[in-house]
Parts: sequence; C-alpha cells; structure tokens
Amino acid sequence: MITFDDKSYRLLCCDGAVGLKKIEKGTVKLIYGSPPYPNAERNYGVWKEEDYIELISPFIEGAQHALSDDGFLVINVKANRSKKTASKASKRSLVVEKLAILLEEQWGFSCVDIEIWVKGNPAPTGLRVACQDAYEQILWFSKSPEWEINIDAIRRPYSDHSLDLYKDYEYKARENGLTYVRKNKSITPNPLGALPQNIITCGVMPNKTTHQAVQPLALPEKYIKACTTIGDIVVDPWVGSGTTGEASVALSRRFIGFDIFPEYVSMSEQRLSDIAKGL
Ligand SMILES: C[S@@+](CC[C@H](N)C(=O)[O-])C[C@H]1O[C@@H](n2cnc3c(N)ncnc32)[C@H](O)[C@@H]1O
Repeated sequence: MITFDDKSYRLLCCDGAVGLKKIEKGTVKLIYGSPPYPNAERNYGVWKEEDYIELISPFIEGAQHALSDDGFLVINVKANRSKKTASKASKRSLVVEKLAILLEEQWGFSCVDIEIWVKGNPAPTGLRVACQDAYEQILWFSKSPEWEINIDAIRRPYSDHSLDLYKDYEYKARENGLTYVRKNKSITPNPLGALPQNIITCGVMPNKTTHQAVQPLALPEKYIKACTTIGDIVVDPWVGSGTTGEASVALSRRFIGFDIFPEYVSMSEQRLSDIAKGL
C-alpha cells in the first residue's frame, strides 16, 4: 500500500495502472493526467490508435479502484492524425470520442463535460486537408452520477463588456425558473467573479526540459481547484515532468505520481521538492 510518510507527495517509477491498484481503495479525490496521445511519436513511445483503448483500459480500471465514490477522473488528450502528412488520407482519429463514450457505457463514469484547451501557439502541422490543429480535449468525468464541484474556486474575471452590460440591464427569471431574459434594470456582478467557461485558453509550454510534453500549470490547476480541497489526494498516473504534482503541492493537496521512466520520476522529484521547500 502506498503511504506518504512525512511528505505531501510520493513519486514512484512503475506502470501507472499497476500503481493505481496499490493505492488504498476509494481514497483518491481526483485522478488527473495526460496519457501518451494516440499516434504521437515521442521518446517515451507510441500508443497507436488501434491499440489505444486496450492500452488505456487498465488505467481506467485502476481509477475505478483508487477513486472515492465522490471522486473525479480528468484526462487531457489529443487525437493525432494517423499520418503526419498533407495527404488526402490523413484521417482524424475518433479514438478520444470512443474513449469518452466507453467511460460512460463500459466503466460507469458520468460525463461532467468535455472541455477544450485552446492553444494560443499551436505547432504548425503543414496540413492542407483540414484546418490547423489548435485545441486538445479534456475529458472530465465523475465516478458518481451526482457530483459537487467548487465552482467559486474557478470563477474568472468578468469581461469589460459584461460589466458594461450589467450596468444597463437586469435579468428577470423566466417562468420556467431556469433561464433569464434581459430587462432594462441593473444587476450586481458576483464579487468572486464570473462563472467559469468550459474552455481554457493558454499557450503550449516552451521546450525547456528533456520531457517532450510538459503541460501548462493552468490545466491541472483548474480541475484540482474545482474537484478537491486542501489535504485531498490527487494522482497523476502519467506524471512526466511533474506538472500535476507541482500544482497539487502548491495548492496544499497530497499528491501521488507514477511514470515508467526513471528520468521523469527524478525530474518530478526535483520539481516537487523545490515547490515543497518554498511553501
Ligand atoms: C503526455 S506525457 C505527460 C506529461 C505531463 N503531464 C507533464 O506535464 O510533464 C505522458 C507520460 O506518460 C508516461 N508513460 C507512458 N506509459 C506509461 C505507463 N504505462 N505508466 C506510467 N507512465 C507512463 C511517459 O513516460 C510520459 O512521461
């Protein structure tokens, strides 16, 4: 069984699916991670589209074991094309959509949303048979069909346009009690900010480490804030350079990370010990 001893995090060099099963059953509030992407050729290997569901299945079964009944599974992934050419046969993979459907139909998770990471600086693809690839998907699922999230923790600043509108209009409840219509009176903005949107807009990280897929911190931060509170356990079964760990430790959550490559575990260890020292 994995323990924390005196630390706020544990990093282990092992297959993440095996690691998940070594966590005490039902103790994890959030599993957040970014697996190898379908068809992406990286120095940590390739998970081909045709093998993808088989390769990711043990991780989903591990998540079912480790998550608490009110826990969440969040997977950031992008469907790469089967051929990186401008050829007319460069078909977009639907394996991410297939995974999302199986998460509900086969593994019994409930879809909170499929959010979109809009990249400010997407890598050029040179593709001429479709538009430039400028987003990734974030599959946000709950173990329970009814869930609670900390919406106030992920509110965002109001746009100037919304604040201007609020000065002039009031939103009067419709009779169905669900939606609002515009009326000519004013309303007060929530002091904690506007309701969050289901997109995250930020650039990809510059390649400063030997890891080829370092995520922006803003991604795990959003789901850690929304799905967990201080002291909860967050797990990343594909820890890589340790981005989810950094966000978790900085937000005073406990963290467990797995990677099959020792160099990434060492990289994460360095990163997390620096964060923990600075707290
Ligand atoms: C997309 S990267 C994750 C990057 C990470 N989110 C970050 O910001 O650095 C996927 C990671 O999964 C790891 N990986 C591949 N197969 C694995 C397995 N079976 N178990 C655990 N980790 C694995 C790779 O070594 C790689 O570091």
